[in-house]
Formats: sequence, C-alpha cells, structure tokens
Amino acid sequence: MSTHSITVTVNGAKERLEVPSNMTLLQLLRENLALTGTKNGCSAGECGACTILMNDEAVNSCMVLAVEADGAEIVTVEGLADDGQLTPLQEAFVEHNAVQCGFCTPGMLISAHALLRRDPHPTEEKIKLALVGNLCRCTGYLRIVQAVQMAAERVAQQAASPLPGGDGGGGGAGATSAGNTSISPDIGGA
Ligand code: FES
Ligand code: FES
Repeated sequence: MSTHSITVTVNGAKERLEVPSNMTLLQLLRENLALTGTKNGCSAGECGACTILMNDEAVNSCMVLAVEADGAEIVTVEGLADDGQLTPLQEAFVEHNAVQCGFCTPGMLISAHALLRRDPHPTEEKIKLALVGNLCRCTGYLRIVQAVQMAAERVAQQAASPLPGGDGGGGGAGATSAGNTSISPDIGGA
C-alpha cells in the first residue's frame, strides 16, 4: 500500500501526517489523532455519525479519503468548544435534553453548527433539512430540533443586547472579539 504525505489543520492545529492511500478521514481522526468524538456508525455515508466540518462544510468523514483532506481545515466535535466554554448550541443541547446518546450527538452538533453558521435564523423546516443525514435510531428528533431553535434564538437575543458595562453604543455580534464565541453568530469555537 502506498502512502502519502499530507498537511491538514484539525481543530486549529496543523498536522503533517503520512497516510495510506485507502485510509479514510474518519480513520485518520479516530485512529491517528485520537479524536474519538467523531463516531463510526455505518462506514457507508448513511448515518451521519461521522460528520465533521471540512472547509466549513459538513461532510461524512467516512466517505472522504485522508489524502483528499490534504490542505483542508477540519473541525470535529472536540473543536466546537472554545477553551472549555461550550457554544450556545452545545449548551442548548444539554439544557434541552437533546444529548440523547453519545453516538449520534457529535454528528448532530456538527450539522447544526454548519447550518447556524450559514443561516443564523433557520426555520424549523430548514433545521430538519440540515439534520436529514443524521440518523437517530432510538429516541427521535423533537428535542434536537428544539435545541437548535433555542440556540438560534439565544444567539440572536445576545447579539441584540448591549454588552454589560458598555457605553450604550451597541454590543452586537461584531463587538465580541474577547474570545467569547457565545455571543457571536459564528457559534463555533474553532
Ligand atoms: S459512519 Fe459515516 S455516515 Fe455513517
Ligand atoms: S441514535 Fe443517538 S439518540 Fe438515537
């Protein structure tokens, strides 16, 4: 089996790796980089458990070869929180009991995160559409959809509120560069 030298940025850290031709990005993340938050449900592009962000797009990492990720920016579920501070989306999942199992939740979070980045005010239909590739085989989607709605509402409310102690000149999302991603429409930490 031939190998290839690739450079990939994962959760902000640049990695230089030697990978076999047939290694998937999912295998690379889990086995070489120990990022086991990304799950392997089907290895066939069907379940969404392996969803990660690749250059800001939610993709099934089981369907991407590691060599295809050469030069890419990857964000896994481990990269969403910023220095241990959960994003509003993650907090909403916790508060709304949408963390139903550890298997589908990472992929659900990544798909919802990608949605809220491109559409901070999604309709219920758009949320369902964004999660259509993420299967839950046990519990259901109601709380997950509601958690995404809650996160979007919270971010919008926080963006509209002046910062505490501010001069009243507005504390919108653009004024939040102090590392607190919780009040930015860009709800990810990476
Ligand atoms: S493990 Fe990749 S879609 Fe199921
Ligand atoms: S598969 Fe995770 S909650 Fe159903």
